[in-house]
Amino acid sequence: MYVCLCLGVTDGQIREAIYEGCCSYREVRNALEVGTQCGKCACLAKQVVKETLTEV
Ligand code: FES
Repeated sequence: MYVCLCLGVTDGQIREAIYEGCCSYREVRNALEVGTQCGKCACLAKQVVKETLTEV
């Protein structure tokens, strides 16, 4: 599923970034640039990060 339409970032890419070592929304944002255009996806992106971090 697409989380960020501006940059075409999926929830899978966010999870992968976390498995590869990102441990906060800020780090995921720096790595994938998710939420850096219109910002509408920030809330959902943060939620995916939070959910994934509680899994790992
Ligand atoms: Fe992610 Fe616009 S949808 S920045």
